[in-house]
Amino acid sequence: MTVLDLFKLTDKKALVTGGAKGIGRKINEGLLEAGVETLIFCGRGRHGSLEDEEKRLKEQWPSRDIRGIKCDINQESEIHSLIEQIKDIQSLEILVNNAGVTWAVPTLDQTMKSWKRAIDTNLTGTFFMCKNIIQELMLSNENGGSIINIASILALKGFAETPQIGYSASKSALLGLTRQLAIEFAIYGIRANVVCPGFIEGDSMAEIFTNEGSPIRETLIDMVPLRRFASSNDIKGIVTFLASDASAYITGQTIPLGGGVTVSL
Ligand SMILES: NC(=O)c1ccc[n+]([C@@H]2O[C@H](COP(=O)([O-])OP(=O)(O)OC[C@H]3O[C@@H](n4cnc5c(N)ncnc54)[C@H](OP(=O)(O)O)[C@@H]3O)[C@@H](O)[C@H]2O)c1
Repeated sequence: MTVLDLFKLTDKKALVTGGAKGIGRKINEGLLEAGVETLIFCGRGRHGSLEDEEKRLKEQWPSRDIRGIKCDINQESEIHSLIEQIKDIQSLEILVNNAGVTWAVPTLDQTMKSWKRAIDTNLTGTFFMCKNIIQELMLSNENGGSIINIASILALKGFAETPQIGYSASKSALLGLTRQLAIEFAIYGIRANVVCPGFIEGDSMAEIFTNEGSPIRETLIDMVPLRRFASSNDIKGIVTFLASDASAYITGQTIPLGGGVTVSL
C-alpha cells in the first residue's frame, strides 16, 4: 500500500454532526474528496439548511450516497431516530462529532440555564451520539471505526477576551471522554481522538473575531506563532488523517490545531 493509499477513505461510511454549516461543511467536503462512499450529516436545521447542503454536495459528487438528516443531538430519541433512518447502511466507519454551541456569558452571570446550554450539546449530546453509534453501527465492524471529536483550543488554554466558562468546561471534558472511549473500545478496533482547533477563518461561530476589520483580529493573530487563523484546509486535513488508515496506530490523543499557540509563551 502506498502512503497516498493510506489516506484514502474509499468505500467508507461517515457521519458528521452539525454538518450543514461552518466547519461541518468543510469536513463533509474533505471526507468526500478522500472518497467516502456514504456521507450522512445532521443538525437541527436551525443554522444551515440540511436540504441545501445535501443538494450542494450531490451536485459535486453525484454517485455518492449523501443524506442530510434532522437530528438534535441533545435528544437521545432523535439520535435513535437518526440511526433508524440510516440502518440500511448497516455499519459506519467514521463519526465526526462536530456539532457544538458557544455561549459567552461572564462567569459570575452564569445561570443554570446558560451553563447547561453548552454542556448539553458539546458534552452530553456528543457522548450519547458516541454511545449509540458505537453500539448500533461500529461494534460489529470487522475493521473497527474512527471517532473524531471536535473540541477547541479553549479545552487547553484560558482566554480572557470572552469568558466562556461553560464552553471551556464542556470542551475540556471531551478530552477525558475521548480517552475513555479509546481505552474501552480499542479491543474492537475503534479509535477515538479529539481535535482542538483555534480560531478558524470563515463563516463560523468565530466570525466575530476573524472577520476582516474586527478590532481584535490582529491581536489574536499576533498570539499565534504561525501568524494566521486555521483555514478550511487545516480542518479537512486533520479530520481526514484521523479518519484514515494513515492514523491507524493513533488513539486517545488530543491534537491541538492552533498554529503553535499551545507551545508558545
Ligand atoms: N469556528 C471556530 O473558530 C471554532 C474554533 C474551535 C472549535 N470550534 C468547534 O467546531 C465545531 C463547529 O464550529 P462552527 O464554527 O462551524 O460552528 P457553527 O457554524 O455554529 O455550526 C455549528 C453546527 O452545529 C449544529 N448544532 C448545534 N447544536 C446542535 C444540536 N443540539 N444537535 C445537532 N446539531 C447541532 C448547528 O446546526 P443547527 O443549529 O441547525 O442544529 C451547526 O450546523 C463546534 O463544535 C465548535 O465548538 C469552532
